[in-house]
Amino acid sequence: MARSIYGLDLGTYQLKIYDKKENRIRTVKNAVAVRNETEIFATGDRAYEMYEKAPGEITIEFPMKEGVISRIGEMQYLLESEVKTEEGFFSRGTEYVIAVPTDVTEMEKKAFFDLLIYSSARAKEVRIVERGVADAIGAGIDIKQETGAAIVNIGGETTDISVLSRGGIVLNRLLKTGGASIDRAIITLVRRHLDFVIGRLTAEAVRIQSSVFGEEQGHAVMAAGRDLVRSRPGIKEIPDYIVRTAVKEFLKPCGEAVSLMLEQAPPDVLAAIRKRGICLTGGIACTKGLDRYMEEKTGIPFYTVKEPHLSAIRGVRDILLSDDLKDLAYSMKDENYRWMR
Ligand SMILES: Nc1ncnc2c1ncn2[C@@H]1O[C@H](COP(=O)(O)OP(=O)(O)OP(=O)(O)O)[C@@H](O)[C@H]1O
Ligand SMILES: [Mg+2]
Repeated sequence: MARSIYGLDLGTYQLKIYDKKENRIRTVKNAVAVRNETEIFATGDRAYEMYEKAPGEITIEFPMKEGVISRIGEMQYLLESEVKTEEGFFSRGTEYVIAVPTDVTEMEKKAFFDLLIYSSARAKEVRIVERGVADAIGAGIDIKQETGAAIVNIGGETTDISVLSRGGIVLNRLLKTGGASIDRAIITLVRRHLDFVIGRLTAEAVRIQSSVFGEEQGHAVMAAGRDLVRSRPGIKEIPDYIVRTAVKEFLKPCGEAVSLMLEQAPPDVLAAIRKRGICLTGGIACTKGLDRYMEEKTGIPFYTVKEPHLSAIRGVRDILLSDDLKDLAYSMKDENYRWMR
């Protein structure tokens, strides 16, 4: 029987899993539902939907925080439930290629490796690829030939900025802010301006439905929450200026971090980036008009790819399928690993 081979991009918001046998990419919310602090009884999308709605004895846990694994046991359980092979969970001899962030500690990086190699996964081989590299490949950049390219991946809890040149990352910075930071700001603004309390999932839904950078202004989205004046549940219109304010506040430091990084890039790399434009990936890049707004703010061209949240896992898939790209993934056990850090 053919060996199972998987590609993984473990996001704080959702896991992206590529199954080579089926040649298919799946996404699963990175959440588990725990009953009485001990028993995990739901995982993935089902657990995420219960957030802020579940009864008291049930808590929804998020196994990753700000781009790194914070609860390894729960993360293993979640993967076990989601990565099913014909031979059962985590069959022996399975191979993995996993995308990991660059700007994290060595311990945090190793946790991604240990998650699979020393756990019930009993993996035969685990190879690692820098997420910025996978992201660039998935965005269609020929990174081995390119003199300069830049990628900004805005996800659930991180913003990963990479400058690449001729097959490798030359500069990288991981900001610990993402969609969840915007949603927290929306919750605060709604409370302050409308005396209305909404939950995190409602804030996310309002943000996605709002016209943030659109032409049409003065729109509003209906949301359920708690009316503080009447002290009871209710439904209110959330005007899109609230979402726009939260998103723009969030983008300010992101734009500054990008400009600062480009100042450090070698001149030939910078020239190539200016010519090509900066690629926006990650789920937040689904926000219509974001590329044009970033371009206005930084004076550098930006562009967005199709299904930007899947860019990194598409890159992992391409590395698994192409002989030319194979060498971009490496094992932490490799002799030359230390040269690649
Ligand atoms: N259509 C959409 N419009 C706007 N935002 C969206 C859309 N779809 C998803 N998002 C947002 O994208 C974010 C998740 O993106 P992504 O899947 O790239 O994160 P992640 O990889 O799990 O997190 P991280 O990379 O930070 O660990 C969430 O905040 C989600 O609300
Ligand atoms: Mg991500």
